[in-house]
Formats: sequence, structure tokens, C-alpha cells
Amino acid sequence: MTQMEFIPSEYTTNIESGEFTWQSPSNIALIKYWGKLENQIPANPSISFTLDHCKSTTTLKFKKKENPGNFDFDFFFEGKEKEDFKPKIRKFFERIEAYCPYLKDYYFEIHSENSFPHSSGIASSASGMSALALCLMQLEKELNPKIDKEQFNRKASFLARLGSGSASRSIAGELVVWGKHEYIESSSDLYAIEYPHQVHKNFKNYQDTILLVDKGEKQVSSTIGHDLMHGHPFAEKRFEQANENLKKLIPVLKSGDLSAFIKIVEREALSLHAMMMSSQPYFILMKPNTLEIINKIWEFREATKIPACFTLDAGANVHLLYPDKHKDEVLEFIKNELVVYCQNAHYICDQVGDGAKKLS
Ligand code: DP6
Repeated sequence: MTQMEFIPSEYTTNIESGEFTWQSPSNIALIKYWGKLENQIPANPSISFTLDHCKSTTTLKFKKKENPGNFDFDFFFEGKEKEDFKPKIRKFFERIEAYCPYLKDYYFEIHSENSFPHSSGIASSASGMSALALCLMQLEKELNPKIDKEQFNRKASFLARLGSGSASRSIAGELVVWGKHEYIESSSDLYAIEYPHQVHKNFKNYQDTILLVDKGEKQVSSTIGHDLMHGHPFAEKRFEQANENLKKLIPVLKSGDLSAFIKIVEREALSLHAMMMSSQPYFILMKPNTLEIINKIWEFREATKIPACFTLDAGANVHLLYPDKHKDEVLEFIKNELVVYCQNAHYICDQVGDGAKKLS
């Protein structure tokens, strides 16, 4: 499949106005996307758990214009008009215009809200961009009712990717792969797919408790971080490592070997941050409490043999991943030993979810 195939042919239907609402989850990568080529093509494949509770709900209201000209839209976040979000959406529209030629025919009012606190340090670009991509696809389906579910989801992921790479992995559940990998036949750099191989029951309802260490704005955005992989002395080795780790994860997901799972996942998280710490300019997104929590998790695992592990995204917060059956003991551990390291004692309990949903 090439990107040309996402350029639609003539539309069969006309629609004047309406509105659609989609709810789309966040996701947490096990194998990390860090580094990209032109047009949001990832430098290596990544795989993530789709989350369940952390999500964005987006309503797209649209009305046909008399004179199509420029992109015409307003954006409201949690009920308030947000001018500062508009450049990001305009850039998204510019990137997807060739694939959604109807964009300039409509005036759009976009309303979005998140289930997680805005200032939690949890990236909302994955859930927000995927929800918006799904609303646009819903409009496209009105214009061309022949699109089937598979084409719909694939193009939604393709469009979401152009908004934010990780957003491509927020359409489907529960394990999602984005980026071409030699051992995952249908994988693609253009869009994400549901992980097609066997997954052991140990990973069913896998828990992710997000320990909010720092709710502030990050000093370095992911987009800048990705860019710093150009000319990074370890870039090629890192891309090889991610490919290798994904290859190793395939039999682990099948056998349910949690000790092997932990080794891959934690190493990925630390490798991601090692890239940040060795780029030019270098930067550190972890905070002292990130390291306190990591050490506590290691002590807890050693003492109890409960297979809980951590991963990190591009920030200071820690995602504590563990099997459903150990939920009670791990939550007890969090309350007794980890809450002190969380800003305002704040953490969010989430688990693996099954992907985006249409609400109206
Ligand atoms: C560390 O998807 O936020 O979370 O494509 O520039 O929007 P852009 O970047 P983004 O990067 C996510 C990086 C990560 C790893 C991951 O989710 O795979």
C-alpha cells in the first residue's frame, strides 16, 4: 500500500452540515518511536498497549461553505475557545489536505475534552489527534458510503499519524504496531495495525498505573526530541535495537514470559531516555522522583516476585505495568510507598483497552 492509495476518488454523496463525536484513547509504547524521517515516517517500528480510561472526546461540527477558500475552523478545549491550539490543527490540515480534499469546503467547529487532567503531563496528542482523525473519517464516510470498516480504520490511523506519530496507534486496541517490521507481515510505516500474532492471557487486562511525578509542561517537546535523532551518534544502533527488541517481544507475547517482557520493556524506556541524554543539545526529562519510583519498583519486584515493571514516555511520569491478577498487592504498594513521590499524591489507574469508539 502506498500513500497515493489514500487519495480518494470522486465522492458520491453531498452533505451540507452535521456533527460527529468520537472518543479515542491514549496509548503507552512498549517499544518506543523516537526519531522520524520526512512526512512522519518512523525511523523504527513501535508497539503499544492501547489504554482504556485516559481518552479524548472530540466533536466535529461542520457546515458547507458557499465559497471554499482556506481552512476555516475554530477549536474549543473543555468548552473554551483555544487560539493557541489552532496552529497545530492548521498544520495537521495542511498535511492531510491531499488525502481529504473536502477540508476547504467546510467550516469546522472542533470541541475536545480529555478524561485526564489537562495539566497531568500526560500527552494528549495521541488521543486528541486520533479522535479528530476519526471525526474527519466519519465525514468522509458520509461523502463516500462505500468505505468499509477496514479502510476506515486504516485511513484514520494514516491521518492520525500525520497529526502525531503515536496517534496512529490510538485507533485500535489492545496491542498495536506502527512501522514496518520484517516479522510482522502486514505492518506499515504509513499506519498502525492491531498486533496480528498470538498474545498470552497474562497480558489480558494488563494494568497501567500512571504515577504523576511532574504535571508541568515538558522543557523539550517530543517533536524536537525526534529531530535531535538526526545526526545523533547512536541513532543507527538505537533503530536497530528497537527492531531487535520488537523481534524478541513476539515470542514473549506468545508465551506470556513476564520476566523476559520486563527486561525488554524497561530497557526500551531507559534507552529512550539515554537518547535524550546523549543528543546535542542534551536534556533530561526524568526528575529525582522518577528515579526514586524506579528503584522502589525494583525493590518491590525483588522482594515480592510480583512481575511489575515500569516504562516511561517523553516525560518524568512513570507508567507502572503489571498483570491484572496482582492488582490488589500493587495498589497497596503504590499507596504505601510510591504516592509520596507523586505530585499532590496524584496517580491514574488505567488498563489495556480496545480502541476508539463512535459516540454519536
Ligand atoms: C516517547 O507521537 O508525540 O511517546 O510524531 O512528533 O507528534 P510526534 O511525536 P509523538 O512521540 C511519541 C514519543 C514517545 C514514544 C512513543 O509513544 O512511541
